[in-house]
Amino acid sequence: MTRIAIFASGNGSNAENISRYFIDNNGMKPVIFVSNKKEAYIHERAKNLGIPSCSFTKDEFDAGVPIVEKLREYEVDSVVLAGFLLKISQPILDAFPNRIVNIHPALLPKFGGKGMYGNRVHQAVIEAGERESGITIHYVNENYDEGNIIFQASCPVLPNDTADDVARKVHELEYEHFPRVIKEIVSHKKILQ
Ligand code: GRF
Repeated sequence: MTRIAIFASGNGSNAENISRYFIDNNGMKPVIFVSNKKEAYIHERAKNLGIPSCSFTKDEFDAGVPIVEKLREYEVDSVVLAGFLLKISQPILDAFPNRIVNIHPALLPKFGGKGMYGNRVHQAVIEAGERESGITIHYVNENYDEGNIIFQASCPVLPNDTADDVARKVHELEYEHFPRVIKEIVSHKKILQ
């Protein structure tokens, strides 16, 4: 059984979708949700799912040690970032080598990096005149959105699409692919080496 922690800063719909997927897919279990926002909706979702959740400050995430201790307490094997906005500090990376994955709501290496989150990403895609966008699932390293890419899927961007339209299509791709890709990574032991 692989025990995963899901980090999210806001709404947490991916965290919930992943958790529901693994209710019927043994071999993997979300054991804790971790956030940097006490008031984020992810905590409400955690309560409804019966999964513990906790929150740490930015300073604690930067220091890393309190987060590593919490993850050890819950015997976490792997970490999934699903809409988590802070950089992952070195002590956390060192504690989980090759065992942290992120989803980015665009086709990296374009439209990534600091400040590229939420509708800012979709707006940048539209302003660049892109005809497609999508999702990128990748390992996490010390730079925002630069770890090795594991999986990408794309969707069309139409001439009149707003950032919300693109966000909707991207979320659909996330819901469809993210849990399955996480399962494949773990079953091929790409994370747990
Ligand atoms: C997703 O689009 C994810 O790719 C991005 O932030 C969004 C989070 O959405 N990093 P939610 O909180 O899972 O609804």
